[in-house]
Amino acid sequence: MALNGLDSNDLKLIIFGGKGGVGKTSCAVATALALSKQFKTLLISTDPAHSVSDCLEQEIGFKVVKINDCPNLSAIEVVADEALKGFKTDHKKELKKLLETSTNLDNDDIDEMLALSIPGIDEVMSFKTIIDFIDAGDYEKYVVDTAPTGHALRLISSPKMLDEWIKVAARMRWKYRYIITSFAGTYQQDDVDALLLSLKRTVKRIENILKDAEKCEFIPVCIPEAMAILETGRLLSDLEKSEIKPRQIIVNNVMLSDGCDFCKSRRDGQVKYIDQISESFSQLNKVEIPVFPKEIKGLKGLDKLIACLFAENTKKG
Ligand SMILES: Nc1ncnc2c1ncn2[C@@H]1O[C@H](COP(=O)(O)OP(=O)(O)O)[C@@H](O)[C@H]1O
Ligand SMILES: [Mg+2]
Repeated sequence: MALNGLDSNDLKLIIFGGKGGVGKTSCAVATALALSKQFKTLLISTDPAHSVSDCLEQEIGFKVVKINDCPNLSAIEVVADEALKGFKTDHKKELKKLLETSTNLDNDDIDEMLALSIPGIDEVMSFKTIIDFIDAGDYEKYVVDTAPTGHALRLISSPKMLDEWIKVAARMRWKYRYIITSFAGTYQQDDVDALLLSLKRTVKRIENILKDAEKCEFIPVCIPEAMAILETGRLLSDLEKSEIKPRQIIVNNVMLSDGCDFCKSRRDGQVKYIDQISESFSQLNKVEIPVFPKEIKGLKGLDKLIACLFAENTKKG
């Protein structure tokens, strides 16, 4: 089987997730490269390890760059810290005002509070960056490479987390609004309300796209090993809780040759796990990728992976 349906015009966001070292980055980069032959594509890495640069053998970083020799492909490595710093700089006035008008904190306390890191903020800002790109609409496909499972799940649950903060901020504002209305008789919405409203819209937009199977597809990557299968099971059940239903799974590092004793023994060891993947994840289209003799690097190395990922589609036409 090969990956299918990724060329549907409605499908905008494709996210790769799975355990560390199973081949997420390689598959995300190969998929983005393949799609860029037909669609203007942006490859986004949210992995702090930023292995997309290594895989493409080109320095990328937190700025969209065009990929050499790939006219329709650009890439960016989202640095969560910097995304957060940018957000705080852009909205410093509103964030300060929110705290000034609804707490008894003095200026120094407020600065200290704004400098604090809040758990989960990285993923929220990473996803906000992705959704802002999708909203800007400069590309037809957005392919996301994530860090190992826990990170992908936090990314997926980031709208919920952001929503919780908005609720707290809105409650704080409500008291302020009540006091102003009591004194002035009326309340005019200000820039803090506008920021909260725009964040609320971001939450809705993230939720809507994640749950829309026509616009977004999550592709788990697995290898025929016990730990990877267990982690994939947990990933799938967590995705289900977020109403995200993958359609296909990549099974990477499959031994094809049973020529030498070493390969034969590796292959024999994998058979039961490949069967287990088929049984446990029977609802998913299974895309098997062989283990290559060398690591996947550069456009040439990636071409081989593309040929395997999209083999049948290529044959069809
Ligand atoms: N099918 C494969 N055959 C050979 N090497 C592979 C294969 N898939 C991935 N690799 C190599 O394994 C390493 C980890 O892959 P990577 O895509 O970075 O995984 P992840 O992003 O899940 O951590 C990389 O060096 C990559 O080139
Ligand atoms: Mg990776």
